[in-house]
Amino acid sequence: MNPIPDTPLPPPTPTSLPPTSLPPTSPHQPSRALITGAAGFIGSHLVDRLLVEGWDVIGVDNFDPFYDPAIKRRNLAQALEHPRFTLVEADIRDLDSLCPAFALCCAPHSPPPTSHTPHPVIVHLAARAGVRPSIEDPIGYYEANVRGTQNMLELAREWGVEQFVFASSSSVYGVNPDVPWREEDDVLRPISPYAASKVAGELLGHVYSHLYGIRFVALRVFTAYGPRQRPDLAIHKFARLMLEGKPIPIYGDGSSLRDYTYIADLVEGIRAAMDYQGSLYEIINLGSGRPVKLLDMVRALEEALGVKANLEFLPPQAGDVSQTWADIRKAQRSLDWHPHTDLVQGLSRFAAWLTTGQSSSPTHAPPPPTAYPPPPTTYPPHHDHHLP
Ligand SMILES: NC(=O)c1ccc[n+]([C@@H]2O[C@H](COP(=O)([O-])OP(=O)(O)OC[C@H]3O[C@@H](n4cnc5c(N)ncnc54)[C@H](O)[C@@H]3O)[C@@H](O)[C@H]2O)c1
Repeated sequence: MNPIPDTPLPPPTPTSLPPTSLPPTSPHQPSRALITGAAGFIGSHLVDRLLVEGWDVIGVDNFDPFYDPAIKRRNLAQALEHPRFTLVEADIRDLDSLCPAFALCCAPHSPPPTSHTPHPVIVHLAARAGVRPSIEDPIGYYEANVRGTQNMLELAREWGVEQFVFASSSSVYGVNPDVPWREEDDVLRPISPYAASKVAGELLGHVYSHLYGIRFVALRVFTAYGPRQRPDLAIHKFARLMLEGKPIPIYGDGSSLRDYTYIADLVEGIRAAMDYQGSLYEIINLGSGRPVKLLDMVRALEEALGVKANLEFLPPQAGDVSQTWADIRKAQRSLDWHPHTDLVQGLSRFAAWLTTGQSSSPTHAPPPPTAYPPPPTTYPPHHDHHLP
């Protein structure tokens, strides 16, 4: 663990910028990565994965109290022991507080590394997450998700960063009825401040990629789950209630559809986006392409936990969408990304983690030998498939 002192570092000067004429490192060559939201569910898995690959990782997090910060510290426990990991406790809303992290990630090391030229990559995951809470605190979500993203992009520009991966969300599609959702859909119908903040992040990325040539890859993530999942998300919340013998709230009639992404698959997708060398601006869905009804997810969770659920039906919640469904052909094509883990496998790994604290290496799980049928490569005609 290398805690960073509070002493502010001098702002970058033109001479401290990494030379832009040097050739980029080839994909897959470990270098330096700055991961925001490093202590969170997705961030901590990504950090663990990068350390295994030999990257130098600078993690940024402010241990936001949205859920117990002690959980986040536990998420990072392994990484904090690692000599190549540095934690910078900083708030993305505060540009100055981010400077030490950028200096560590982007300044040329002295003496310069001989093996390869640093080619830092930013993966910006820090955000206020969650749809419903964003309705309670829209300004707070704006501050963290829009201003915070702008701060990150601004510093990326100052420091000459070339690759910026952004965690967007399936929620940007909102109530777009045309499923499966495709990146080319220009009709985004967000229905929560959270969703709108992610649309804004994508658009800011476009500005910086256009003006400054920063490659910006926005990953529209469809409900991620697995060990360390955020406690506010349905699978984790339901599982805890079921184990405590308490009723689980089902908003609506249980027919809503969700496209779930297992964390190990998601981390593979983020890694591929970090290496992506195509056009300067991309938006890519990361989901399974196989949406599941809420009640079917609950049944699968019952199986995984060996516990029967007691369902409490409640009215639908504001901000919730009735379906999410990713068309993942672009991820398959451009990132060579193929999610392997089906819901039954993923829930059984999640249940093992929740009940025993053990996880069978969720981030590094090799593709399972069982043939999980790939998502369809053809979909129904786009505008003919409307669900309620
Ligand atoms: N989990 C999902 O299903 C899902 C789906 C779509 C998009 N996403 C996006 O992926 C990213 C990671 O999600 P997650 O599920 O790991 O959430 P998480 O809450 O577990 O992780 C986010 C991390 O960001 C940190 N953070 C929040 N505000 C910050 C600030 N102002 N400064 C610095 N750090 C701050 C938090 O402390 C937390 O550790 C988020 O951007 C989220 O919107 C997640």
